[in-house]
Amino acid sequence: MKEPKKVLVTGAGGQLATVLKHCATGAASTLDLTFATSRDLDITDLPAVMGHFKKAQYDYCINCAAYTHVDKAEEDEERALMINEKGAQNLAKGCHENGTVLIHISTDFVFDGKQGLPYVETDRAKPLGVYGFSKFKGEQQIVRTTDRYVIIRTSWLYSAYGHNFFKSMLKYGRERDQLSVVFDQVGTPTSAHDLAEVLLKIVGADSIAHGIYHYSNEGVASWYDFAKAIFDINGITVDLRPIRSKDYPLPAERPASSVLDKEKIKKTFNLQIPHWRESLVHVSHLLETMKAEAPQP
Ligand SMILES: NC(=O)c1ccc[n+]([C@@H]2O[C@H](COP(=O)([O-])OP(=O)(O)OC[C@H]3O[C@@H](n4cnc5c(N)ncnc54)[C@H](OP(=O)(O)O)[C@@H]3O)[C@@H](O)[C@H]2O)c1
Repeated sequence: MKEPKKVLVTGAGGQLATVLKHCATGAASTLDLTFATSRDLDITDLPAVMGHFKKAQYDYCINCAAYTHVDKAEEDEERALMINEKGAQNLAKGCHENGTVLIHISTDFVFDGKQGLPYVETDRAKPLGVYGFSKFKGEQQIVRTTDRYVIIRTSWLYSAYGHNFFKSMLKYGRERDQLSVVFDQVGTPTSAHDLAEVLLKIVGADSIAHGIYHYSNEGVASWYDFAKAIFDINGITVDLRPIRSKDYPLPAERPASSVLDKEKIKKTFNLQIPHWRESLVHVSHLLETMKAEAPQP
C-alpha cells in the first residue's frame, strides 16, 4: 500500500484551515495531515520553520496563515509584511530545502480592479492597499525561492466557520431592521468549502503543474447582491439598501472589480466550479445543520 502523503497546514486556527480540517476527514487514509496553529508554528520565525520542516519531511505544505485584516494593515504595514511576505518566504525556504510542494493562498486584492475584465494570472498586479501589497510581495518571494509551488489567488472567502461577511450578514440581518451595503464593488464570493476541496484535489493529483492560479466560484456579484442572496436564502427580512463605497469610507481602498478568470485552474486540474449562489445555498444549509447538531446549553 502507498504511504499516505504528509501534509502540513499552517494557520490552522483560521477560517480556511478549519474548513480544510472538516473536508479532509474523509481523505484521512490517503493523507497524513498536520494542522499547525500560529502557536504551534509561527511562520515569521525562520529557525522554527526550518527545524519543523527538517524534522517532519512533508510532501506538501498548504499555507493558510496570513495577516488578513485589510483595514488594520494600513497602519500596521510592518506586521502585514512580516507575516505575508517574510512568512511566505520562510515557508518557501523550508519547502525548497526539503522537497516539499508549497500551496499558498493569495488574493484578488493584488489587482487594482480597474481593468473592467476578469483578471488572468499574467495580468499586472497593482495592489491598492497594504494588505494586497504584502500578499503580492509574498507571491514574489515564493516564486524567487522555490520551483515547487502552487499559488492560488482567491476572492471574498466565506464559510460556516470563523469570521466572514456571510456570518456577519446573518447576524446583522437578524438583529437590525435596516442595512446598507455597497453595490459598486464587484467580484465573486467564494465558498471556502469549495476551495478546500480543490486544495485536497491538487494534493491528490500529485501534479507537477506548478505556478499561479485563480480560483473563485463562478459568476459575479456586488457586495449588495451577495448580502441580498444571503437574506433571501436564509429567510431573513431586512430593509437592505445599496450604497456607494464613497458613502461607506474605510481605511483601505478596495478594487472596484476583481473578478478572476478561472480557465487555467479548470483546465489544469479538470475542475467544475459551482456558481456562487449554488454554493451559498450549500453553505447556508451546512450552517443550519451545524446549529441543529450543536449541543444545547
Ligand atoms: N478571507 C477572505 O476573504 C480572503 C479572500 C482572498 C484571499 N484570502 C486568503 O486566504 C487565506 C486564508 O484566509 P482566512 O480567511 O482563512 O484567514 P484567517 O481566518 O484570518 O486565518 C489566518 C490564520 O493565520 C494565522 N496566522 C497569523 N499570523 C501567523 C503567523 N505568524 N504564523 C502562523 N500563523 C499565523 C492566524 O492565527 P492567529 O489568529 O493565531 O493570529 C489565523 O489563524 C489567506 O492567505 C488570505 O490572505 C482570504
